[in-house]
Amino acid sequence: MPTASETLNHPHHLDRRIFCLTALATGGVLAAGGALACGGAGGVPAPTPPPVPTNGPHTTSDTKAGLLGTPDGTARDYRNLGNFFLLKDAGGIYAMTAICTHMGCTVGAPVGTQITCPCHGSQYDLGGGNLLGPATVPLVHFSVTEATPGGALVVNTAQTVAASTRLT
Ligand code: FES
Repeated sequence: MPTASETLNHPHHLDRRIFCLTALATGGVLAAGGALACGGAGGVPAPTPPPVPTNGPHTTSDTKAGLLGTPDGTARDYRNLGNFFLLKDAGGIYAMTAICTHMGCTVGAPVGTQITCPCHGSQYDLGGGNLLGPATVPLVHFSVTEATPGGALVVNTAQTVAASTRLT
């Protein structure tokens, strides 16, 4: 039985890694077969979703009243604060991770109604639901509270909530 090192350095694996890196470097969109070869299903073990970050509460620069007054589909980008988005839809305010559930890359900012991961092209809707693989697990949602009544919104990335949870 080959060692882990021998397995990783086997020419087949090197070819696959070079293919994936080339596809990424050229900005190419991987066809279904290529996406599978780069980490999807089909002979390659499915990657384990990354652990949920537990780096605690983050105070945003948004308030409940302010964000509730924005159009549905508004998304605030807090990737630099705690790798999450703060969003508003018809139900209210919610927050979710910006960490792709495929292999842990940080996804791009929402564009229209979609969020795309730059690593292998997974796409999510604004609720974190999967639109396109290789990721098959939705984006995790976090609790949102007010620091004080009427004060700044606080997103606790150490506390996950159901995707249907909204602050109203
Ligand atoms: S890490 Fe692979 S699609 Fe996001």
